[in-house]
Amino acid sequence: MLKTKVIQSLTGIALITIISSIAIASNSPSYAHETHENHENKSITVSVWDKATVNYEGNKKITVYNSPSCGCCGQWISHMKKHGFEVTDIKTDDMEAIKRKNNLPPQLESCHTAIINGYVMEGHIPADDIKRFLRQKPTNLKGLAVAGMPIGSPGMESDKIKQPFDVVAFNNQQIKVFNSHKNY
Ligand code: CU
Ligand code: CU
Repeated sequence: MLKTKVIQSLTGIALITIISSIAIASNSPSYAHETHENHENKSITVSVWDKATVNYEGNKKITVYNSPSCGCCGQWISHMKKHGFEVTDIKTDDMEAIKRKNNLPPQLESCHTAIINGYVMEGHIPADDIKRFLRQKPTNLKGLAVAGMPIGSPGMESDKIKQPFDVVAFNNQQIKVFNSHKNY
């Protein structure tokens, strides 16, 4: 009888120990979160896209429309800021309306839509391509786009995957390749 009681109380202690270690474990996401953030920051500092190779002295004020739930949009904004752009960050749940208002060809749609110098900049375009386009001041083109969200593009960096992608220039009649990023 006594033996059974000892075993019961030992089991109780063991259970308490297990429960308290679960409680400690569930308190640790803050640490996990920190590690995740550090990893993200690290991958941004080594991004191939952050090195400026195009000199552009013009207006650097750009308005970026993006959804409040979009993480990669924020990463692209950081990329633009590293190239000296001054970003007005406008959050909206109706990105479709922004794309329609700017007559963006539907096949070129991505997550965020940016406006600079009256041009439309759609998706994860490298800052240097935007600078090169703005230097040219084309009168017959509406803007640039990277359709979809290619993994490896600025704001979509990945250590393992680098999908080749095109930056296209467009107007209401045509879409043409502005720059091709195959190996980066
Ligand atoms: Cu995106
Ligand atoms: Cu985006």
